[in-house]
Amino acid sequence: MAEAAVTMHMDKGLDHTIIGESTKSFIDGQNGVLEYLGIDIDDLARNSTFEEVVFLLWNDRLPSADELESLKSELRAEYELGSELLGMLRLVPADASPMHMLRTMVSAMGTMDADCDDQSLESERRKAIKVLAKTPAIIAAFSRLRKGEEPVAPRADLDIATNFLWMLNDEMPGAASARAIDVSLVLHADHGINASTFAAMVTIATQSDMYSALTSAIGTLRGPLHGGANERVMRMLQEIGDIDSVDAFVQESLASKRKIMGFGHRVYKALDPRAKYLRTFAKQIADETGNHELYEMSTRIQDIMEREVGSKGIYPNVDFYSATTYYSLGLEIDLFTPVFALSRNAGWAAHVLEQHQDNRLIRPRCQYTGPHGVAYTPMSDR
Ligand code: CMC
Repeated sequence: MAEAAVTMHMDKGLDHTIIGESTKSFIDGQNGVLEYLGIDIDDLARNSTFEEVVFLLWNDRLPSADELESLKSELRAEYELGSELLGMLRLVPADASPMHMLRTMVSAMGTMDADCDDQSLESERRKAIKVLAKTPAIIAAFSRLRKGEEPVAPRADLDIATNFLWMLNDEMPGAASARAIDVSLVLHADHGINASTFAAMVTIATQSDMYSALTSAIGTLRGPLHGGANERVMRMLQEIGDIDSVDAFVQESLASKRKIMGFGHRVYKALDPRAKYLRTFAKQIADETGNHELYEMSTRIQDIMEREVGSKGIYPNVDFYSATTYYSLGLEIDLFTPVFALSRNAGWAAHVLEQHQDNRLIRPRCQYTGPHGVAYTPMSDR
């Protein structure tokens, strides 16, 4: 049976499909360039803070000092979880995956907001602030509750990165650790129409709401081909065990077509510029803590991969060195992807707000390959 006369092309994986316009981030995959609103990611990583980048992504320009303070005040006013959310968090099984937990909690926030269906930009922005501001407390409180410890109240005098580590560990982090998390949040904040951002856009394009869009995005980020890769990198390094076992592990993996986690990218066919920056960080932390083995194993894997598959455009991506960075900072491995989600809330919300302003239902088609005209078989005859 022929389809109506509409020109269609098949693009499995959507590699060759541009789904719309965006001002948020630019990626040059051949040359390893990433910009937010035209500003090179290296400049932002060196000079800005996560809150500044949130303003940039949501307003398409850098903030003045007053504007930044005002955004920080709005965020800080929403740091607390409140008794309802905390009560729900206490019901989540201690052995649940933190990404399942986070997705559930963000979804639950939609049940507690009387303005959930208000589609105005102001209301949607307010919801984005709420989710972004509460995500660190949700992750930190869950991490503590599952160890039998009470959550630590957020401190309204701290920025997001410092406050997160404070709530996680019940002690003030050193400036270097807080800055490492802050820079990592900057580097993960947005990345074009990646899978989770696309999921958020598909959801909001039906005129659903911010909570639903962010819930879709968290579920999508979780997979190991996307944000879940940072946890898999760490587990892979643990499986390898020591530097002497690296060569055999990588060679055997390549020979058996097992993917090396933290390598390869749909868009980058050169070194991911975020990986370049995080590698420097991983080295600094290794020098500071004296724990060099993980860093040396990582660089050895990178050397072998460049030699063996560099010509295919397979290089480290953002997840490769963020894993060693987080681990060296003392983060539990299954919190790596939630920290990615904490940061990417900024980009997800930016694209949701952008989609609202020029919306069209996103509804692709598939090539039907099944039969036609099949007679219905009554239950008694099956
Ligand atoms: N290790 C070994 N070989 C690889 C890898 C890897 N990590 N990634 C791709 N390849 C090979 C793959 O085997 C295939 O080879 P061949 O052409 O000989 O069959 C070729 O490269 C193309 O791979 P693909 O999987 O078809 O490429 P894709 O564009 O569909 O996948 C990817 C991109 C990120 C899913 C993939 O590179 C991968 O699975 N990487 C490991 C997981 C990972 O690190 N994910 C994080 C992505 S970046 C952060 C984020 O987006 O969240």
